[in-house]
Amino acid sequence: DQEEAFRRSVAHARTVSHAPRRRAERAGAGPTFTNAPDSDPAVAQVRAWAREVVAASPGTPRSTVHDDARAADAVVARGRAAGHRWAGRPAAERAAVLRRAADEIEARRGRLVTAMAAEGGKTVGEADPEVSEAVDFARYYADRALDEVDGARFVPDVLTLVTPPWNFPVAIPAGSVLAALAAGSAVVLKPADAVPRCAEIVVEAIHAAGVAEDVLQVVRVDEGRLGRALVAHDGVDTVLLTGALETARLFAGWRAGHPGGPRVLAETSGKNAMVVTPAADLDLAVADLVRSAFGHAGQKCSAASLAILVGSVGTSRRFRRQLVDAVSSLVVGWPTDLGVSMGPVIEPPSGKLERALTRLDPGESWLVEPRPLDDTGRLWSPGVKDGVAPGSWYHRTEAFGPVLGLMRARTLDEALARQNATGYGLTGGLHSLDAEEIDHWLERVEVGNAYVNRHMTGAIVRRQSFGGWKGSAVGPGAKAGGPNYVAQLGRWLPAGLPV
Ligand code: ALA
Repeated sequence: DQEEAFRRSVAHARTVSHAPRRRAERAGAGPTFTNAPDSDPAVAQVRAWAREVVAASPGTPRSTVHDDARAADAVVARGRAAGHRWAGRPAAERAAVLRRAADEIEARRGRLVTAMAAEGGKTVGEADPEVSEAVDFARYYADRALDEVDGARFVPDVLTLVTPPWNFPVAIPAGSVLAALAAGSAVVLKPADAVPRCAEIVVEAIHAAGVAEDVLQVVRVDEGRLGRALVAHDGVDTVLLTGALETARLFAGWRAGHPGGPRVLAETSGKNAMVVTPAADLDLAVADLVRSAFGHAGQKCSAASLAILVGSVGTSRRFRRQLVDAVSSLVVGWPTDLGVSMGPVIEPPSGKLERALTRLDPGESWLVEPRPLDDTGRLWSPGVKDGVAPGSWYHRTEAFGPVLGLMRARTLDEALARQNATGYGLTGGLHSLDAEEIDHWLERVEVGNAYVNRHMTGAIVRRQSFGGWKGSAVGPGAKAGGPNYVAQLGRWLPAGLPV
């Protein structure tokens, strides 16, 4: 499914680059459904989902809410007993369960899309491929259960704690949970607070596939209480965290003084830049920048929040005009409207995002000034700030919202130095049609996911395993959706020893 989406996105990019287009399409915003006929079954389907979104009452969780730290011991004891049982199932059986989970998730596509839209403010265009990603994770990790860990030398973790973020409320919990299950570990999932329905539907699908309720438990907790007790619990082997670097540091603090507690493998934050050289196809660069910066209102660890413009691109009036045109053509609104290409932010901006949206540092100016669009404080028009200086606050700070900053560099090497100087190393992009520039850049860019002449978000399972360097990762974790992700969730006995 993801591969099909990928093929479609490539085809779309080519169209953006070379054909006459309507404004919204030129922005890389993708097709809208506003004028599409209901006779098209796909359009009728998304319209039906959108009606469900409107009807859905947000946040009526059915899972148990534990708010007592003493509950941690009970959750862990139940999980460990289940983990020993689950590890005893042959890898082929676990793989079969994961393949059924793929089908069960697929069968819930409409509900998942609507839950993502209702709880997380994700547009249908962003939410639908996220379901495909969850399905891809299930099938990929089923393969890995057979290819990587099917043998007597691998001893899986008994219990894994999964703490996913709110911004990918389906693919990330599904992927992390399914990887642990593929390895042979039981799981405790602590969903992100803002998106409980999404997690519930994922869990319902995995249970329906044949995973017992004690093999996959869900706890909804006050992070400071049970969460803290679990993160430091001797009975948890590994914590799979996807979230802000601050959260990983918080977890590390909770872990301190508990030498028998779990190891933490975390995919954290990013401050990601796309470099555009004079050898770029500027039409394509603008479309990919806009998609990478403003997809899900910029609330992705993978999002582009800087464009580093090399040489004449930095002074090109054509580039600026196209960028302003494309950004201004984004349709901002609530995702129940299928014509919307950028949804709300998860809560009214505060802290870093508020500063990024409302303040300029010396040398900066607004090319497109972001503005609040309604009384909720959550709908903002996208912003582009020009003149971001090397070493400035915005150069090094993840704002996690709909802001793109422009920096200039005299040469590709200067651009690389700035791209590599953010403190993070998650995604990076280059737009250039020059083969030497591409090779030069690929050898030097310090990111986990490097994209050439493509948008920088939406890594494809198996093809583009996802994860970062530097401040974008904590612990020696393998990349999600790639080799060794499952095999890291346990211990390997040395060859030659009796097992
Ligand atoms: N895996 C997500 C992406 O690539 C975060 O955008």
